[in-house]
Amino acid sequence: MSTTFTLDTSTSRANPTPAPMKRLTVPAVRARKADGRTAEPIVMLTAYTARMAQLLDPHCDVLLVGDSLGQVVYGLPSTVPVTMEMMCNHGAAVVRGSYHSLVIVDMPFGSYEASPAQAFENAARIMKETGAAGVKMEGGEAMAETIAFLTARGIPVCAHVGLTPQAVNTLGGYGARGRSKAEAEKIMRDACAVDAAGCFLLVVEGVMEQIARDVTAAVSCPTIGIGASVDCDGQVLVIDDLLGMFERVPRFVKRYESLAETITGAVTKYAAEVRNRSFPTDEQVYRPKK
Ligand code: KIV
Repeated sequence: MSTTFTLDTSTSRANPTPAPMKRLTVPAVRARKADGRTAEPIVMLTAYTARMAQLLDPHCDVLLVGDSLGQVVYGLPSTVPVTMEMMCNHGAAVVRGSYHSLVIVDMPFGSYEASPAQAFENAARIMKETGAAGVKMEGGEAMAETIAFLTARGIPVCAHVGLTPQAVNTLGGYGARGRSKAEAEKIMRDACAVDAAGCFLLVVEGVMEQIARDVTAAVSCPTIGIGASVDCDGQVLVIDDLLGMFERVPRFVKRYESLAETITGAVTKYAAEVRNRSFPTDEQVYRPKK
């Protein structure tokens, strides 16, 4: 199968293209929750580059090109300044690097909130330029009309409720949501509204555990937890958090590796070897063939 998104590995350091596999589809992922139960939880991780997508792809059901790339890749203070160009470029890279996982791309702040028509125009651009199968957008009741509009027009939507990082300026920070009864009820209303509007997945972020459980029981689509509950229908983490690239991470992150330390160790050795002229060695230099 040849598409414009196929990565030419013959001239790059990338791994040889694995045997083509059938990519998971939106209906297949949506159908993992049947009669209110998900027998096998959905595995989702963020990815921002082709190489990382290659490494994660065999292990994941869904790769999310999250707007968390604003902080993780670009060093921005929040996701608010993330642009359509960033999401399209990284989305295309992740699609090129993956063969099996469903790829969805976050809609950046300001690209969908004004109207369903604005959301459609930008979501369609993301899908055309990246080859992704769907988009994610933050917001509950306020986004329900937009989710129904996009879904009816061929754009699958993953919704996102609870702690919605693009709203950091109205929320006042990244603290867990749903501590008060009123807030808990609002999160439930948000979840039910986007589910009724037709979202195929629902990210539930940074909420009291019981809310995540109640939402998962109440909605028909699979829920994906992050700082939520083990009872969600799947889980997502930011890949750089899981790998231990940052010193400061939210409470809900489990570090499975300490890559920052590994990188520091390798680069410390390299710098020392350059300075004492022990790199490069005979093995790394070119000499005329005998
Ligand atoms: O942007 C992102 O990476 C996300 C996930 C953490 C859910 O929205």
